[in-house]
Amino acid sequence: MPALFILTGAGISADSGIPTFRGLDGLWEGHDLEDVATPEGWSRDPALVWRFYQQRRAALGAVQPNAAHHALLKLERALAAAGQRFTLVTQNVDDLHQRAGSQPIAMHGELRSLLCESCGARERDLEHLDPATFKACSSCAYPRLRPDVVWFGEMPRAIRRIENALAGCTHFLACGTSGNVYPAAGYLAYARAGGAHTWINSMEAPDNADPRDELLLGRASAVIPALVERLIAEWGLEPCAD
Ligand code: OAD
Repeated sequence: MPALFILTGAGISADSGIPTFRGLDGLWEGHDLEDVATPEGWSRDPALVWRFYQQRRAALGAVQPNAAHHALLKLERALAAAGQRFTLVTQNVDDLHQRAGSQPIAMHGELRSLLCESCGARERDLEHLDPATFKACSSCAYPRLRPDVVWFGEMPRAIRRIENALAGCTHFLACGTSGNVYPAAGYLAYARAGGAHTWINSMEAPDNADPRDELLLGRASAVIPALVERLIAEWGLEPCAD
């Protein structure tokens, strides 16, 4: 029976209206990574970084999970009911998997959370969205919480847990990720080398693709529900009621 590992990236949220990072109109096109996505940028100009993330945090209020997020939850529930292993890891900092009902490992952090650099406290907050005003820590009153996201040069979250799940997987799906940012970009090859069947859903073959991967080109909101129906049938799973 399968042990499924799913890695998602910005492409799964593109159909909900959140821009991806790379390519035309990508989030990184209009911004210098060094300025807005590094600890050094935050030290240099916290007001600029805060404004950038407050806009992204506020934008979450205008989007909804799409059919791909919902389909992955359906598959997770069907596998859980059959006692099978399922791991969902996302590089996305939006909360669309969570709002669909999944509990992904958010390896690059979460926009809906703020982090205190002084006492380490985390606060769930999507209320304070003013781009011009910092939020103080509710635990220690440190005046400036930071976005609880992983910046370039910082360690992604839950790496040990992710690697354990990856080591035992028999099937691997990469959805909406360009295969540019490590360590996540290495998971596909790792799963493949371990003998897992590998699917890639993307708009074009990503940089880390291999001829052995089963390439499912097209929008996640169409491709993923179809794949989920196929797997439920092939694996003889019982779909769960919503
Ligand atoms: P990218 O913007 O690099 O890649 C998005 C991928 O999604 C591309 O391969 C597109 O072809 C694909 N895509 C676009 N629209 C799609 C759709 N509707 N359906 C399916 N696929 C679609 O985003 P990521 O790979 O997620 O890290 O980027 C990885 C990391 O780089 C991010 O987590 C972020 C960024 O810098 C940090 O900020 C640490």
